[in-house]
Amino acid sequence: MRHVIGIFVFTILTTMFYYYVGQMVPQKETYPPEELTISKDLTTDQMVEIGEQIVGGKGTCLTCHTIGESGAHRFPDLGGIGNTAASRVQGQSAVEYLAESIYDPNAYIVDGYVAGMPAMHRAPTNLNDDEILTIIAYLQSLGGTPDVTMSSSHSFTGQNPAAAAGAAPVAAAPSMSENLDGAGLYEKYLCNTCHSVDTDAPLIGPSLYDAGNRMSTADIYESIVDPDAKLADGYPGGVMIATLNGMNFYDSVSPKDLKKLVDYIASKKGN
Ligand code: HEC
Ligand code: HEC
Repeated sequence: MRHVIGIFVFTILTTMFYYYVGQMVPQKETYPPEELTISKDLTTDQMVEIGEQIVGGKGTCLTCHTIGESGAHRFPDLGGIGNTAASRVQGQSAVEYLAESIYDPNAYIVDGYVAGMPAMHRAPTNLNDDEILTIIAYLQSLGGTPDVTMSSSHSFTGQNPAAAAGAAPVAAAPSMSENLDGAGLYEKYLCNTCHSVDTDAPLIGPSLYDAGNRMSTADIYESIVDPDAKLADGYPGGVMIATLNGMNFYDSVSPKDLKKLVDYIASKKGN
């Protein structure tokens, strides 16, 4: 009985924690608020400040990463990254490495971790080049001295001209012209970063490769719209909902797309 109560208290605490994290992620506000306008003549210090806000807000970085927390982590702790960045990859400067970590996260996988970070200049996060420069400044300030400026260049600049043109919303609402199938939606909403569908290997969440055998479509539907109502054994609550809230999933997914997602997962029968 004490054991059960212990688990119960733990669950409540983690849920509250993730609820809190979820609240820190701007949800319906339009972005950027006025003080976050990024102009080309920001000083590096100003970039650090803006970068910090984006990392904790629109960037959704803190739904996965911690900063300066000791202990075991599912995602690399970013405390001290300003110091380690320059020595991660031979011949890559700190700015170049940090840019790559954001635009092309799978190009280099940090020792002891698995791939799972989405490219942040793509939907749904849609960070533009200038926003990413400010994030680099902030990351450099964590244990190091930022040397990036608004006119610094790196190999990844210019990959997102559309978003760079204006203020991208927190998450791009699925546009009418975009007609993705279940597999496309599964990627678009980053389900693939936490659930494999081709192997039984768990990532952050359980593998869904056999979900169609072990779950009814109603169960699948429920697990998506209310992930914490019934938790998969041995997995934490809060993570999925915080991430999906961070990208406005629940406010923007259409019933039709939700059904496509459910059908896609129900089609996974473990073979
Ligand atoms: C869905 C979870 C997730 C989100 C959201 C996320 N990351 Fe990551 N990140 C990871 C994972 C997993 C790794 C380790 C694997 C790798 O190296 O790609 C990583 C690695 C990194 C690294 C390399 C760290 C090192 O020690 O070398 C940096 C830098 C980084 N992320 C920055 C960011 C920033 C900035 C954001 C927000 C714009 C962000 N991440 C959002 C999951 C995430
Ligand atoms: C940040 C990681 C993360 C993301 C992103 C995520 N999930 Fe999950 N998901 C989890 C975790 C952790 C669990 C286990 C806890 C639970 O049952 O809620 C889970 C549980 C599930 C389950 C129940 C699985 C079972 O075996 O009972 C389904 C179905 C599911 N997720 C579908 C999705 C879909 C569809 C998306 C994208 C729209 C998605 N998830 C996005 C982490 C994530």
